[in-house]
Parts: sequence; structure tokens; C-alpha cells
Amino acid sequence: MRNLTLKFLHLLFLAITMSLFHSANSKSMLRLKRGASISVEGNTFITSPDDSFTCGFYAMPGSKAYWFAIWFTNSKDKTVVWTANRDRPVNSQGSRISIQGADGTMVLTDVDGSIIWQTNTRKSDVSAAELLNTGNLVLKNQRGDILWQSFEVPTDTLLPSQILTKDKRLTSSLRKGSFESGYFNLYFGSDNVLWLINDSPETSSLYWPNPDFDIHTNKRTNYNSSRIAFLDDMGMFRSSDKLQANASDKGFGIKRRLTIDHDGNLRIYSLIISTGLWMITWQAISQPCKVHGVCGTNGICVYAPTPKCICTPGYEMNDPSDWIAGCKPTFKEALLSSPVKFLELSQTDYFGSDLYYKPDFTLEACRELCLGDSRCKAFAYKTWGSGHCYVKSDLFNGYMSPDFPGSVYIKLPRRVQVSKPSIWFQHYV
Ligand SMILES: *[C@@H]1O[C@H](CO)[C@@H](O)[C@H](O)[C@H]1NC(C)=O
Ligand SMILES: *[C@@H]1O[C@H](CO)[C@@H](O)[C@H](O)[C@H]1NC(C)=O
Repeated sequence: MRNLTLKFLHLLFLAITMSLFHSANSKSMLRLKRGASISVEGNTFITSPDDSFTCGFYAMPGSKAYWFAIWFTNSKDKTVVWTANRDRPVNSQGSRISIQGADGTMVLTDVDGSIIWQTNTRKSDVSAAELLNTGNLVLKNQRGDILWQSFEVPTDTLLPSQILTKDKRLTSSLRKGSFESGYFNLYFGSDNVLWLINDSPETSSLYWPNPDFDIHTNKRTNYNSSRIAFLDDMGMFRSSDKLQANASDKGFGIKRRLTIDHDGNLRIYSLIISTGLWMITWQAISQPCKVHGVCGTNGICVYAPTPKCICTPGYEMNDPSDWIAGCKPTFKEALLSSPVKFLELSQTDYFGSDLYYKPDFTLEACRELCLGDSRCKAFAYKTWGSGHCYVKSDLFNGYMSPDFPGSVYIKLPRRVQVSKPSIWFQHYV
């Protein structure tokens, strides 16, 4: 006990001295000039004139890897809005960002001098980098013309006055506590409509606006081909497809951001100045399980009652620490050669992957159709007027929904012992 207390005091002492050390030694500048550089060890940052944004080397808590990033100075956890090298972090020692003399390119190099990231500003007359009050990192020439800007290459966040155009996208982080590119994206589709879409290695699946409805029911239009979207200073998120979403604290003077999160939802966050914490003031998807693929291949998103991922019965997690990796079958045999059985999961469906869709079908006929096709991994059956049969080739985008009027029937080798997770009984007992 005494030992523990001592250890705790020691840690506390370390934390205090380190934070003093940090604030005493960190330097901030308004401009990084051509020929100059910033290193992790140098503890130097570029700040916006109003100090609302900071740019420099950033490490995730508990990590020795660094990213060249821009963050909100006054949010408690220094929320990052942009990273240059999201998929390739650099070492804490010897990495640097510089505006190189010869052509004015901004270059991020790792300890061994290898180029990790650079701007496409070759043969230009860049004189300095500055961070604007909007959170935009810009490269300027002597005359003050902007030659490159971070707003042109967004990562997962759009800031007020930053514009999402035709050839740009926001891409989520792969998991919480990481900057690595994930699978969820926000961009304009070929139909001029702003989409949320899961572009994973196995599949592409649009989940917003609601794929069960047509464009007009979703209050969008595909007539306007200008394809621009932005979050304004009032907290209104608007797009040329007629989307209009308002932050619940609509009004001027609040710091906000629009972020596509690792769970695939798109949210407007507003900063509470007194605490430095973020408040969600709008989100695109109200039922989290409606985000396609949020539980990976063969996973099912359920409400228990808060949203959580489980594997389809008869399947197990690929990586026990990570749902993104999805689930794999616990059996090896093909689903035709061996005797099979079907396990019913009520109010559950896998969006898409329909080998066949048959209206006016009986449950028994639907079962026969799946039984006779080795590609069929499950079938969904819903009663909506008459019976509707959907034969599934893959178990993607699995979700449980209180408003799904039917069940899915999982095809499994007869010898495989499975127990239905209790979530499917709670509705009946
Ligand atoms: C198309 O959208 C842009 C951006 O929202 C808007 O300025 C323009 O007026 C729209 N055009 C038409 C024909 O509605
Ligand atoms: C958002 O706010 C604007 C301006 O006050 C208003 O015209 C619009 O109807 C609001 N949109 C929604 C979806 O609430």
C-alpha cells in the first residue's frame, strides 16, 4: 500500500515537472519561413494569430509515433482536425518538417531522411507557411498569394469556411485512438448527391441518405451538378443537393467541426469553452446500427440496448481486439456438400448482397432456394403485405432493427453447435 502511494506520488511529480518543462520550453511562432524547419525535439509550434489552432508534431497519448498535424488549441484533448501523414507516422527523434530552399516544397522527413509527405508546390516561390484563424495551414509567396492549403486535402474533418467539392472526400479513422485511414467516406456520388459510403476492401455500400428511399423522399436533389458542401459559421451544414442540417446550438461565435467518426457517423461538434469538451449538435444517422459494415464482414450490429457488435452465430472474430476485421466461419465445409440447418434471427437483416429477390414467396420456397444454391449463406424473409424472399451471398452490413418486419435465417452445417446470443430472446421472454 505504502509502495503504491509512493509510486503514485512519484508519477504525479513526474507529470507536474514534465508539464512545467513542456510549457517552459515550447515555442510558438506565427510563420515558418523558407529554409527553416521544426523537429519533435525542438518543441516548436505554429499557432494561428488568435491562438485557436496549433500546428506541429502530435503524438497520441501513450504513443511514440508522431504526426504533423493541426489541432484545436483550446479543446481539452487537443482534437486533431488534419494530419499530413495519417497512414505513416514518424519517429520522435530526428523527424522534421521544413520548407526546402531549392523549390519551396514543404517536406516531412523521418529520422533516416526519407520523405514521408510533401506538398505539390515544386518550382514555386513559397516564402513561408502560416496557420490561419480558420485552421487552414497555407503556403504563401512574398506577395501573399496562397500556393497550397491544407483545406484542399482534408482528412476526416471539415471546418467552417472549408469547402467540400466534387473531387474531395472526408475519410474516417480506422479505429478510436488512431489516425489511420478507415473505410467510411463522405463524398459526392455520380448522381450529384452527397453520400456516406463504406468503401472497405470487400464491398462498397452506401448508407446515407437512406438507401431504402428515393432521392426526393430523402429531401435531396440530383439536378444541381455544382457539388459543393460546407459548414457555415452559424452551424448550418449545406450542400448543393439541397441537404440542410442545423447544429442544435445554431448561432455565431461557437467553434465547430464536422467529422466523420470511426463508427461511420457524420457529426457536427460544438466546443464548450468552459470545459474544453465537445458536444454533439447534429448527426447524420440516428440509429448507429444503420451504418453499413460497422461490425465488419459476418458481424451484426445489435442494440443491447446500446449498440454493440457480435459475430453471426457460427462465426468468430478474426481479431479479438478489433471489430473492423470482422468475423470468420468456425466451420470449414462448403454449405452444399454437408447437411445444413437454418438458425432464425428475428428483426435482423444483412443489407445488400442479394443473390435473388423474390416477392410473393412462401418461407418454405425461400428456404428451398437457399438450400439448393451453394453460394447462399443466409436468407432474409419479411412479411410486408405478402412474403418477400432475399437470398444472401454474403453476410455484410448485418444489423438488428426494431423496425425490420422479418427474420434472417443463417445457413450452417448441421453438426455445428451454436447458441443464439441472448439478445434475440429478450424480445420474447
Ligand atoms: C446549385 O448549388 C449551388 C450551391 O449550393 C447554388 O449556388 C446554385 O444556385 C444551385 N443552382 C441551382 C440551379 O439551383
Ligand atoms: C436550418 O436553419 C435555417 C435558417 O434558420 C432554416 O431556414 C431551415 O429551415 C433550418 N433547417 C432545418 C432542417 O431545420
